[in-house]
Amino acid sequence: MGAGHDGGACVKVDVLVIGAGAAGLMCAMVAGQRGRSVLVVDHANKVGKKILMSGGGRCNFTNMGVTPSCYLSGNPHFAKSALARYTPWDFIAMVEKHRIAYHEKELGQLFCDESSKLIVRMLLDECAQAGVRIEASCGVTRAQRTEEGFNVLTAHGEVHAQSLVVATGGLSIPSMGATGFGYELARQFGHNVLPTRAGLVPLTLSGKHQERYQDLSGVALPVVEARVGKRSFRAGMLFTHRGISGPAILQISSYWQPGDDLRIDLLPEADAGAWLQEQRVARPAAELKNVLADLLPRRLAQRLCELWFESRPMRQYREAELAQIGAQLHDWPIVASGTEGYRTAEVTLGGVDTDGLSSSTLQSKLVPGLFFIGEVVDVTGWLGGYNFQWAWASGHAAGEVV
Ligand code: FDA
Repeated sequence: MGAGHDGGACVKVDVLVIGAGAAGLMCAMVAGQRGRSVLVVDHANKVGKKILMSGGGRCNFTNMGVTPSCYLSGNPHFAKSALARYTPWDFIAMVEKHRIAYHEKELGQLFCDESSKLIVRMLLDECAQAGVRIEASCGVTRAQRTEEGFNVLTAHGEVHAQSLVVATGGLSIPSMGATGFGYELARQFGHNVLPTRAGLVPLTLSGKHQERYQDLSGVALPVVEARVGKRSFRAGMLFTHRGISGPAILQISSYWQPGDDLRIDLLPEADAGAWLQEQRVARPAAELKNVLADLLPRRLAQRLCELWFESRPMRQYREAELAQIGAQLHDWPIVASGTEGYRTAEVTLGGVDTDGLSSSTLQSKLVPGLFFIGEVVDVTGWLGGYNFQWAWASGHAAGEVV
């Protein structure tokens, strides 16, 4: 890490990057490799904190199935250009060059075998080789446009830069250094900022809905299908003390807003009605709650029987009743009251409006030399390595021109 630049005189660089996260480090590295003098500042005491904590400490650094349709944005076409020019294979090539062992967990998600520290180390090594200077514990309080670029006041003194890159991320996990500073800068320079909200976040239940399921906290289902409107995700689900979580719920949370109808198919890989008819023939004396416990966690099967269907021996059900129970298992309405918010969210939806940015360079259309990259922009990926790929791709696109 470079030494601080305290000491009075204004430091001059070609490029100042605010935020030493995934996008900022990638942009700095690429710009440095082009021979630009680059300074990266971050107010946190350590760089790349979100990379370090990501993927349970193993960093799900990309996804081999990345397509623009895996991103939410006011402009669904915006991410196409950057994603096409820096692909998962480009990042994988760098990971392999640094001999970092990785594996595919599922659905194209690539994780480090050992530790996400290796990804941060790789980026820092590449930055060091490219002559990039990085200063942690260095917040930015002010940025102003000048005739030749930008004057920026940092905790370590004043910096003059031809290009200013805002890579301050979103609002999620404030304890890790997230701030709304990038949005403030965007507004200051005349950009529109779309309303932000927590994404990839557990959903909460309240009132009687919470009471019904609260004591199921810890119960997990390996595969459900969570649906809001036409959007659905098939993955695991978990009951928590406050509501519901797990990959299927985190994914759908980005598409859910309070008041939306959330439905869960508890048995997406079975025809529940047909299976119950078979069980009626095979086990006529078995009670429904015990039969259901073959396919669902026992405590959930029991609770569903208490709430919805009286549990009787299978022989006592008519065919139509079992068909009805089957249909309910495939279309379970759960009334969420909200989300756990930025405290636990993986990402922030919304942000700097893409209308004001070039999709190929991420440069401001209003202020030449000003760039916004990564999560601060209104582009948000699904769970599974998509958000880092956007950070790498948008950082790379800007790094090529800053
Ligand atoms: P990032 O948040 O990485 O970096 C922003 C930097 O700006 C921070 O270092 C911050 O300190 C700094 N900063 C903010 N305000 C500042 C200011 N005023 N002055 C100076 N510096 C400032 N994604 C994925 O693809 N795979 C995964 O496995 C995970 N896992 C994951 C786990 C958890 C717990 C979270 C919270 C998130 C994930 N993500 C993820 C999402 C991913 O971490 C996120 O999308 C990227 O880190 C975004 O990269 P950025 O560089 O845009 O922001």
